[in-house]
Amino acid sequence: MAPSATSKQVGTATLTFGDKSADLPVLGGTLGTDCVDVRKLQSQLGIFTFDPSYGATASCESAITYIDGDEGILLYRGYPIEQLAEKSTFLEVAYLLLNGELPNQAQYKEFTTHVTMHTMLHEQIRRFWDGFRRDAHPMAMLCSVVGAMSAFYPDSIDIHDPRQREISAFRMIAKIPTITAWAHKYNAGQPFMYPRNDLSYAENFLYMFHAVPPQEYKPNPILTRAMDRILILHADHEQNASTSTVRLAGSTDANPFACIAAGIASLWGPAHGGANEAVLKMLEEIGSVKNIPAFIEQVKDKNSNVKLMGFGHRVYKNYDPRAKIMQKTCYEVLGELGIKDEPMLDLAMELEKIALNDEYFVSRKLYPNVDFYSGIILKAMGFPTKMFTPIFALARTVGWISQWKEMIEDPSNRINRPRQIYTGAPQRDYVSVDQRG
Ligand code: CMC
Repeated sequence: MAPSATSKQVGTATLTFGDKSADLPVLGGTLGTDCVDVRKLQSQLGIFTFDPSYGATASCESAITYIDGDEGILLYRGYPIEQLAEKSTFLEVAYLLLNGELPNQAQYKEFTTHVTMHTMLHEQIRRFWDGFRRDAHPMAMLCSVVGAMSAFYPDSIDIHDPRQREISAFRMIAKIPTITAWAHKYNAGQPFMYPRNDLSYAENFLYMFHAVPPQEYKPNPILTRAMDRILILHADHEQNASTSTVRLAGSTDANPFACIAAGIASLWGPAHGGANEAVLKMLEEIGSVKNIPAFIEQVKDKNSNVKLMGFGHRVYKNYDPRAKIMQKTCYEVLGELGIKDEPMLDLAMELEKIALNDEYFVSRKLYPNVDFYSGIILKAMGFPTKMFTPIFALARTVGWISQWKEMIEDPSNRINRPRQIYTGAPQRDYVSVDQRG
């Protein structure tokens, strides 16, 4: 079981409003910023807090992932991402995120067997693809097919039954590579490849994605390792937009497949997981190193609406630790594939160098994030640009399901329901249409 220490009161903050004041507990966790507990604020002072994009709000207690944005630290269950990316495997990380501890050999074997046993999709799900246009964006297909899983696996949607929650978790983690690979096969007009249980998680995904029936498929160990590492780096990232979406949907007791579909929809946006696709499009548009200064000027122009994609983060005010590992992996992959000169990589490196020395980016603490280099690696590995965000979704599924499970098992969980500052018309009386001026 996951360690489930709850936060502790570390102090009190006093808030005065009008002639009343309230003593609010300040809560601290194991690491990170302490938080004022405002849950009783309305009953004590008759006011709410206002934080529209949650920049100053902790929405839950969680023991899964920790980020220190100033120092550029990312921990899964306390383990630094660098160590996990170097030494672990994606399924071991999945076990860790779900259960709180790294598995022993027997637990790892059992977990791998359970995931492997669930890789096939209900055959009827195959027919879903026929309803899509050939050029449908794979994220649209992922959203729909994952949402539809609740109709195919109704035996595991009772969220109050721990066994069913566990089976749903296995189903999601096991089937998402099949769904992702099939979305690509449908786009490409190639036959769907059924999962192979003799292959590792990453190998099986690469096989279902790249293999075609007439040719023997030989997994490349360096590319398999790179794939596994990309999955580890994207596996969880505490309360980001898509994870918060999964938790918000889950707080209503909606079934896990519907919640993950909501997460996929949220991930799609270019400010979030869609950034990896947007980075490559941006690099293609810039085209050459000589065009970088003009592009940077556009980014700095407030009226242009142009962003340097793959740069900046709500939490990291330092180099995203995942970006560093991505950059290293990028060299390994290009080396293995014998790509000596990758213009996109040269362009990205030069763009990074210029941005990191420019006052606009320096003063705003904007650094490369995980998406800056991932697209270059994925492109080199033969993934079409449209597939970058689905691969992010594939990896993040384990984080979403772990966070969803943690929330359901938290006794303090209740429906998430923010309030608002109403700025509309005050109450007024209806006037019939013939009397309106
Ligand atoms: N290019 C240019 N300016 C930027 C960028 C950027 N990529 N990111 C932030 N800024 C500016 C922003 O305009 C603001 O300027 P000012 O203070 O003059 O108004 C300042 O930096 C502070 O940014 P912010 O608006 O407070 O940042 P945020 O926390 O609201 O947004 C972000 C974070 C990731 C949405 C944003 O940095 C962004 O749009 N980046 C590009 C998209 C991207 O790479 N997203 C992937 C994020 S990492 C993977 C993931 O989580 O999915």
